[in-house]
Formats: sequence, structure tokens, C-alpha cells
Amino acid sequence: MSKPIDPTTTAAWNRLRELHNGFSANFREDFAQDPQRAGRFSFTAGDLFVDLSKAYINDDVKATLVELAKETNIAGRREAMYRGDHINVTENRAVLHTALRRPKDDSLTVDGQDVIADVHDVLERMYAFANKVRSGQWKGVTGKPLTTVVNIGIGGSDLGPVMAYEALKPYVKDGIECRFISNIDPTDVGETLRGVDPETVLFIVASKTFTTLETITNAKMARAWFLNQLKDRGIADAGAVAKHFVAVSTNLEKVAEFGIEPSNAFGFWDWVGGRYSVDSAVGLSLALAIGPDNFADFLAGFHTIDEHFATVAPEENVPLLMGLLNVWYVNFFGAATHAVLPYSQYLHRFAAYLQQLTMESNGKRVLWDGTEVTTATGEVFWGEPGTNGQHAFYQLIHQGTQLIPADFIAFANPTYALKDGDQDQHELFLGNFFAQTKALAFGKTADEVRAEGTPEEIVSARVFPGNKPTTSIMAPSLTPSVLGQLIALYEHITFVQGIVWGIDSFDQWGVELGKQMAKDLTPAIAGDADALAAQDPSTRMLVEYYHKNRS
Ligand code: F6P
Repeated sequence: MSKPIDPTTTAAWNRLRELHNGFSANFREDFAQDPQRAGRFSFTAGDLFVDLSKAYINDDVKATLVELAKETNIAGRREAMYRGDHINVTENRAVLHTALRRPKDDSLTVDGQDVIADVHDVLERMYAFANKVRSGQWKGVTGKPLTTVVNIGIGGSDLGPVMAYEALKPYVKDGIECRFISNIDPTDVGETLRGVDPETVLFIVASKTFTTLETITNAKMARAWFLNQLKDRGIADAGAVAKHFVAVSTNLEKVAEFGIEPSNAFGFWDWVGGRYSVDSAVGLSLALAIGPDNFADFLAGFHTIDEHFATVAPEENVPLLMGLLNVWYVNFFGAATHAVLPYSQYLHRFAAYLQQLTMESNGKRVLWDGTEVTTATGEVFWGEPGTNGQHAFYQLIHQGTQLIPADFIAFANPTYALKDGDQDQHELFLGNFFAQTKALAFGKTADEVRAEGTPEEIVSARVFPGNKPTTSIMAPSLTPSVLGQLIALYEHITFVQGIVWGIDSFDQWGVELGKQMAKDLTPAIAGDADALAAQDPSTRMLVEYYHKNRS
């Protein structure tokens, strides 16, 4: 295991401190003094056009951030990741989501195994299965085609599939609908299965470990519901589960134990982190919905950005620059959160997806050798689609006291080219996208407010300080490939931040304690007086409240 480099000991970090001390954001001046600024600080990665000119960047900052990348050996760690070294040190695993989207004629041997061949074997099985279901050749217990796909999973086995399914709705085959069950709250199973026809449903139980309490509990409830429904309809259930349940997992033994036929199980590998798995068999529901060709385009989009990240010079390397800028914001400007604001209703689950990707990855307090970090890590990612966010929380971004760097995402072409007379609705929408980063950058001075005839006593309330950093990301359209590119972009941004911070971005020990305690509390909740007495006073009080109020 190589030793992590403490970033705060590097020459670049010291230089960034100096640059920060002398830094006073002034976008009006920056653009006035440098007419080339917009062009000089905008970059292309695949189909993504990325404008960093309204970020806190100048030539010195950019050069020093690139220097920081060198001093923290991002290129070396990136190569180690791509070639399958065990860079997830606390779990002793390779981190190879990039292998999931490499072309079939590539090869990569990791731990004695050709992982590209393995990936394409599973993809071919997924595609064959998807084609059978989509064409109606795969039939349910009463001979009907399966039209409602219910994915049961949580975390990485849910967020990616839901987000991508929602994002790619225009590509979903007519007559196929996907639903998603994740929460162990029985409401989720109850509501999601309302109105589902057991004769035409396909359940996908997706769990990397196949031991996750939520997923296994929900899968059992779904199976009981399914068998009861068949019984109520007088349908013999022999062989029914095999026709209506498939699984996605790295743990094929547990899948078999659950009662799902091995031929109906789609595998993946321990080198795919849950939050990096939508492009593995975990994306089966998406492949069923949008079809193999579109799924292959989705994977090709990821690969485009993997190639960009691996080959483009640091000065033009978009994930690298965006990751480094995030470090600049977090560690030098104290930014605790980062907003991601897609001007696309289809991306309404994108921020939720990114929350697991970024926060489960970089919410760490020790370096990968176990020593304490020396600086802040992992910011909170959040967001909602524009323009809804504008009418909710943008006030705080514009005029509040916190610095919130924000990524704005938009597409030149709408899916619905709707017009009201001459008014193109997409242009109205994009007007908001362009206006927001402009208002955040350039603000409105007191003199400009006064010039509008504003009474003096409310002038200050109407001033917009501006100089809020944003990144604009645009693409021609939200296609499967572009969605893959966006996801890969954020995966690599997350990687860059994690490497600078010297942490293991690929483990997630912080989710374990609560899971264990939930299990341990079961007897106390079920009424075991000794178990209840052993609890801390607050927990005991809350469980007692539950006992008194549960009717
Ligand atoms: O919440 C922890 C976690 O392990 C995530 O990392 C993972 O995506 C999720 O649980 C679900 O795990 P599994 O796919 O094994 O059911």
C-alpha cells in the first residue's frame, strides 16, 4: 500500500493559500479585462461543453491546481484504478467501474481474470433477456408478456436505475413501465405494487451483497404478495417464481438460497462499488426499458469520458479541473455544500443519485492508511431541477451568507418542442438557465438598484452581491450516451477529490453502525423488557413512546 500524500504539505497547497489570501472574486472586472475569458476557461469532453469562466479560476489558480494534481499523483492513482490495482485498500479490492464500459475487443487481466470478457458475457445475457421480455417471447405464468418491471434494491442498486430510467423516459419502449421499491418502510412495497398485475410483472431483485436487510425483506414481501395474488386468482403457482423473478448480484449463492434460478441471475463483481454500478447488471431494469442498443450507447457515453479523463492533458481535462476546483472551494473558501441544478425535468433524480456517489465516496475522516485527515473532505451535494429550485432555495445562493458553488446543466434540444404561438417554451426555459449563472456572477449593485427608482431604505435588500461561482454544462440533447457521459464526469470528479484528500473513496464503513444497531434493537422494539432496559435513556424513551402509541 502506497502512503497517501498529505495535500496540505505540498508546495501547491501553500501556493493556493497565498492565492486565496489575495483572491477577491470580481467577475465584472475579470470579463472586462480579459475578453477571451469565456473561451479560455471553457472546455469540451465528449458531447459536454463545460464553461468554467464563471468559476473561481484564473491562470495562476488553474496552474497551481494542476500542480496540486501532480503533487498528489492523481495521474498515477488514475492509472492504478484503470489497471485494476487494489486501490480500495480497506476492502482490499480493485475499483474497476471503468472496465464495465470498455469495448468488447479490449482486454484487461485483473487478479488472473479477463474482466472485459466477463463484462461482455454478462452484457450479452442481459441483452438476450431484455430482447425476450421486450418482444413478448418471455411469458409469465399465464402466458402473458411481462410489461411492469419492479426493481427491488437500495442505494446503488436503486438510485442509478431510477435516475437513469427517469432521465431516459423518451427512450422507454411503449408498453413497458418500471417501478422501484427501495425503502424498508412497508409503504414503499404497498404503494408500488398497487395496481400491478401479477400476471404481467417482472421483479428484479438487485443487491450486490444479497444480504441487505431492506432489499431481502422487500423481495420476500413481493414474493409473498405475488404468490397470494396468484392464489386469489386460482392460478397454479408451479414455476411461477422462475418466470417472474430475476436477480442481479455478486453473491450468486445467496441468490440461489432465495429461490431464484441461477439461470435467472445476472452477476457482477466485487470490484464494482454499489454507487458505481448502474452500468453493470444493476442497470438491467434500464436495459429492459430502453433496449440493448440504447443501453450500449449509455455505456459508450461513460467510456468517452473515461478516455477523456485518461488521455487529455491536465490543462484541458474536464473531470480533473472540476474536481480540483471543488477542492479549492471546500478547503480554501470553506464551501460546505455544492448544488447541482439540471435544467431538465428528466434529471429530477440526478442530485439524489449524486448524493450517494459523492457523499458515500468522500465523506471520510481518515486517510487510506488510517491516519486522520488534515483538512476538510466531502461536501454535501444537493439540488433540484431548474426552474423549481429558483422558486425555493435560490434566494440563499444569491443573497445568503454561505458560499455555494453550483453546477448548472442544460441541453440545447428539448424532447417536447412546444410552442405557444411564437413562444418556444424551451427558449423560455433556457432563458432561466442562462440568466441564473449571469445573475450569480455579475449581481446587481446598489447604484443599479437605485437607478431603478428603488426607495433608499430597501436598496440594500435588493442588492445582489454577485461573484458566486458556477459551472455551466451543456450538451446537444439528453441522449443515453450523454447521460453516461454526465455520470462518468461526476464519478471522476469524485475520484479526483478523493485522491487529493488521500482518502479511500471506495469504502463506506460509515453506514455500518446504524445497520448493526437497528438489528440489535429488534428485541427491545418487539417488547423484550430486559433488552429495552439495556438501552440508553433517550432510545428507551423513544421506544416506550412507540409502545404506548402503536395501536
Ligand atoms: O448503504 C450502504 C450500501 O452498502 C451501499 O453502498 C450500497 O449501494 C447499498 O448499501 C446496497 O447494497 P446492496 O447492493 O449490497 O444491497
